[in-house]
Formats: sequence, structure tokens, C-alpha cells
Amino acid sequence: MPLAKALAAQLLACVIIAVAIKAGIVPLRPIWQPALLQGLSAGLLATALRSERWWLPIHLAFVPALALAQGLDLHPLWYLAAFVVTALVFWSSYRTRVPLYLTNRRTAAALAELLATRAPGHMLDIGSGTGSLLHAVAVRLPGWRFSGIESSPLPYLASRWKSRGCDNLSFRRGDFFAADWRDVDVIYAFLSPVPMSRVWSKACSEMPPGSLLISNSFEIPGVRPVRRIVVDDRRRTELLLYRPTSGKGRTGR
Ligand SMILES: C[S@@+](CC[C@H](N)C(=O)[O-])C[C@H]1O[C@@H](n2cnc3c(N)ncnc32)[C@H](O)[C@@H]1O
Repeated sequence: MPLAKALAAQLLACVIIAVAIKAGIVPLRPIWQPALLQGLSAGLLATALRSERWWLPIHLAFVPALALAQGLDLHPLWYLAAFVVTALVFWSSYRTRVPLYLTNRRTAAALAELLATRAPGHMLDIGSGTGSLLHAVAVRLPGWRFSGIESSPLPYLASRWKSRGCDNLSFRRGDFFAADWRDVDVIYAFLSPVPMSRVWSKACSEMPPGSLLISNSFEIPGVRPVRRIVVDDRRRTELLLYRPTSGKGRTGR
């Protein structure tokens, strides 16, 4: 649905500007004029379609950026290379609606401090990205076992590279919803609002008693965290601690 709205806003804006050019209302040259007007129209249409706010800068900038790139006279292979790299980094984000962004160092330190108060166990990072978070905690807590699951190829390869020489750290590629969470004591999730209810449901049906689900920033709808840790970083990151309990997953409460 969000992608369909984005496509509709872009295409409709292109049609509007094409008709305006044909009718002589908007000049075709200089090209930045119709490009800027297309961006503006796409932004307005996306707002009318109630797209989420973060789409707005993308709509405003998309066609103007294409017009700008046209002027740079780049070899077409650069576009192909940019597309391939973007696809390898973001892979299934269009479906999971979880892009790649990384836990910062202060949050990693706060997480390591929290884990140090528990008996050593197994922590799984669901959607482990480039592995930087797990690497940072694994070197601090040698008694723990850390594993990560990541679907996107390039971040996964980066995480494999990072885990060299780190015996308590491993990564695999795949969908974390298809994995078995029964031997996991702590799950760390830095995802988006979209998958949180499903994550909670799976955690409740599979994680053992006494386990912990830690979400960086994103709440589980309708579930109250047992604790919130506010990290002393610029964005005042919140670590939300949940206790999955068998039987709670189905209702999500
Ligand atoms: C916001 S990043 C977090 C990276 C890392 N955990 C960190 O905190 O630095 C979320 C990652 O989850 C991955 N992801 C999203 N849904 C997934 C799924 N169902 N299975 C595996 N990985 C997934 C995305 O590709 C993305 O790299």
C-alpha cells in the first residue's frame, strides 16, 4: 500500500506536468523548472494520499535529482552500479519495511552494561545489519554467545567479515521470522513499528521463561515494557525491555 501510494503520486505528478508542458503553461526548458514542479506536485499528492511524512522529502527530491544527474553526463554503468549496491543493501526492505540504520556506540555500551547484570546466555540480534552492534557487545562480554540474522546480502557479508576472530559471535543470512528462538535468552530488535506485533507474538510462543526482548526505540503496540532505559546520546535513544510470557503472544497484550 505505501509503495502503491508513492508510485501513484509520482506517476500522477508526471502526467500533470506533461499536460501542463503540452498546454504551454509550464516551459520544458530549463529542465529544472518542470522537474521542481513535478517534485512539488508529487509531494502534494502524497500528502493528499496520507502517505507517511518521511515520504515527503523523497517525493520532493526524486525527479529534480534525476534532472540534476542528467546534467552530470555520467556513464550509464554508474546508474546500474548504484542500483545494484542499493538493492544489495536494502534487499527486502520494500517488503519488511525495515531499512538499514545502525545502533550507535552509546546505545551498544548501555546494552552491554545491561547484559552484564544478567547471567551469561545467548543473545540474538534480529536484523543484525552490518553486525556492528553485536561486535561491540561481544568483545565486552566474552562469556555470552551472540548471534545475528540478516536478510540483506551486503550488510550480512560485512557482519561476517567483522566476526573474524570473535569466537562468541556468529551471523547467518535469512529471515529471522523463520528462525527458531527457543534457545534464545535475550532478543535485541532495532527494526521499525511495522513488524513489532509479529515479533512479540513469536517471542511469546517460543522464548523460554525469564527471557528478555529488548527493542531499540519501537514500542510493541498494546504491550507495556517492564523497563525503559534512556541512553545518554543525542537522540535520547530508548531501550524498551519486554518480558515475553507464553500465552500472551496471540492477543499481543
Ligand atoms: C535498523 S537495522 C538494525 C541493524 C542492527 N541490528 C543494529 O542495531 O545496528 C534492521 C535490519 O533488519 C533487517 N531485517 C528486517 N527484516 C528482516 C527479516 N525478516 N529477517 C532478517 N533481517 C531483517 C534489515 O535488512 C536491516 O538490516
